[in-house]
Amino acid sequence: MAASVLLNTGASIPPVGLGTWRAEPGLVGAAVCAAVKVGYRHIDCAPSYGNEKEVGLALEKLFRDGVVKREDLFVTSKLWYSNNAPQYVPEAIQTTLDELQLEYLDLYLIHGPIRLEKGSAPTPENSLPCDIPATWAAMEKLREAGKARAIGVNNFSCRKLEALLAVARMPPAVNQVECHPGWQQARLRELCRSAGVHLSVEHRSQLTAHHGTLPTGICSVVLAYSPLGSTAAAGVNAPSVLGHPVVTSIAGRLQRTTARLALRWGLQMGQSVLPKSTDEARIKENLDIFGWSIPEELMAEFSEIEQACSLHCSFLCIFAHLMFLFVRSCSYCC
Ligand code: A2P
Repeated sequence: MAASVLLNTGASIPPVGLGTWRAEPGLVGAAVCAAVKVGYRHIDCAPSYGNEKEVGLALEKLFRDGVVKREDLFVTSKLWYSNNAPQYVPEAIQTTLDELQLEYLDLYLIHGPIRLEKGSAPTPENSLPCDIPATWAAMEKLREAGKARAIGVNNFSCRKLEALLAVARMPPAVNQVECHPGWQQARLRELCRSAGVHLSVEHRSQLTAHHGTLPTGICSVVLAYSPLGSTAAAGVNAPSVLGHPVVTSIAGRLQRTTARLALRWGLQMGQSVLPKSTDEARIKENLDIFGWSIPEELMAEFSEIEQACSLHCSFLCIFAHLMFLFVRSCSYCC
């Protein structure tokens, strides 16, 4: 895999990771094995995906068979909404580590700025006030204890990210959000960039040359989930990304598939991408986005794509608004 990206911890994160959201139990283990065998070194997990145990079995087999070493793999997981309080954080990560059969995570993220009653379903009536600074302090302790080598957030809007940056002792290394040509997250990417964000190797050398050392107060890599726009494709208002005329036209001119084009667009926009697939051929295809690029004049054409909140976003937005006092706005678009 080509050039990895530096996090504000100094660790690198491979720019393509296998997404496991909506990867069906029974298929996800084989997908993880296939991905690692073709060169993926980054797997994105979460307990709410309901498949961490199977991912853990696959990882254990890959390590046992000598296909990859633990230290060469970057594994992410997330703190679910019902554990979004400081007292639940140590137990939540331990459960995830046990399921994944790992000693540590490379990255642990707060899954969203939402808190639910312990063990409850994600409905507005189960919501509780959410004290992000307190949860974040517990996340910082995990990093100090070595259980998580980097910590970050998921689904944080500009406003919520700025609020966290104002209080965080350790700034989040990553903000993982839905991002693809149909939902480009311009404001959020700009915030991350202006805060010193996506550290490519070249960018790191420039920063180091300029500051003498790598600055530590920086946030945060944008990690893109649904980089193929699958969520938007399922949306009521949003057009399919892979079938969008602008995307198909550029893909045709470059003689690439629309999926590879969308992923390459993500990389060139400066983010890391997490395509989900349980299909071996597609898993391979989704890694084939290096050694070629989208010329600048064609990159400019992506701005013609109308931006639409996806179904998932609309749902979260309604959900968040229904949660009246506690979460005043959707973490995605408000
Ligand atoms: P499958 O698992 O059958 O391959 P996203 O990462 O944006 O959420 O997209 C995931 C969806 O896109 C899944 O439905 C996945 O289906 C499909 N997908 C993954 N890779 C490709 C590809 N290269 N071409 C077309 N569809 C893909």
